Amino acid sequence: MPLRTITALNRPSAPSGARPTITNALTLDSKAELDLLVQRLLAPAASIPPKYFYDALGSTLYNAIVLTEEYYPTRTEAAIHQRYRSEIAAAIGAGKQFVDLGSGDSVKAEKWFEALKPSRYVAVDISESAVIDALSRLAGNPDSPELAGLITDFSRVLDVQAVMNDSATLFFYPGSSIGNFMPDEASWFLKQVAAHRRTNQCGLLIGIDLKKDEATLEAAYDDALGVTASFNRNVLMHVNRLLGSDFRLDDWRHYACYDSAFGRIEMHLESRRETTVNLRGEERKFRTGERIHTENSYKYSVPEFEELLRSAGFAQTRSWVDEREHFAVFYAN
Ligand code: AVI
Repeated sequence: MPLRTITALNRPSAPSGARPTITNALTLDSKAELDLLVQRLLAPAASIPPKYFYDALGSTLYNAIVLTEEYYPTRTEAAIHQRYRSEIAAAIGAGKQFVDLGSGDSVKAEKWFEALKPSRYVAVDISESAVIDALSRLAGNPDSPELAGLITDFSRVLDVQAVMNDSATLFFYPGSSIGNFMPDEASWFLKQVAAHRRTNQCGLLIGIDLKKDEATLEAAYDDALGVTASFNRNVLMHVNRLLGSDFRLDDWRHYACYDSAFGRIEMHLESRRETTVNLRGEERKFRTGERIHTENSYKYSVPEFEELLRSAGFAQTRSWVDEREHFAVFYAN
């Protein structure tokens, strides 16, 4: 992969010579990406890839979603981590290289540093500013391990070799983000992680949202305050900025439902009235009630996810679940 070292942060209180390096391996062809977005909107079953949720406002709205009463996954996972931290740490073993996939602000990972005493911490995220901010913060703490960062879109291909060494590795993928992959993509992603078992002693600590009653699931994706609705509708404002299109917010309502056949929450935007949108010179007519599919969030049972891990190549799995059995944390190696 083409690599660009973008910064070596100063780390005043670290052992001499320890300066976190951040490598940018993003190779986004933005023209091709936008062409694909237009094609997806012009298709008979229109859709928008969920990555377009996360502009600055969308990311802020997502941070608000996790605080809503109804959205239980984030706080449930945090409670499992807190309750079972020493047991999980004992299963993983101390002193490993800690590779944080979708590291964001690195706060979730940092909570493991005391128990796991990682030899290195590698923050991997698509957002350059998130990695720079997080590593700058960690670099100010003399107790932080050796630090490195990688900017990449690992949902396409997990290529982290350039920033890893060949010591034992823990991959960390919390937040049930794997649920936003289609099952075949989830399986491909897990296989890529498990492939590191050939060269490194490697394990994966991952969070999974479990199957449960529809009312709980649907409320989590349609909270009473309308935060998730705003998050979903905001994607149209982002698309307008990217494409110069003319979606009008008033024409679209948030729609979320659980499809038990697929085992997934689907989020859509539903047209309130007949409307025409200009997409870079092409007119797309939407009928009243027509939907744009914006996200899937797959839910698994513990045995289903165990099977996915095993078929990806992991030999052993352990899991920890909250009392209501809403969420599971798996360690696979
Ligand atoms: C990021 N991901 C795990 C969230 C989920 O639950 O699928 C995204 C989200 N969409 C609406 N609410 C939260």
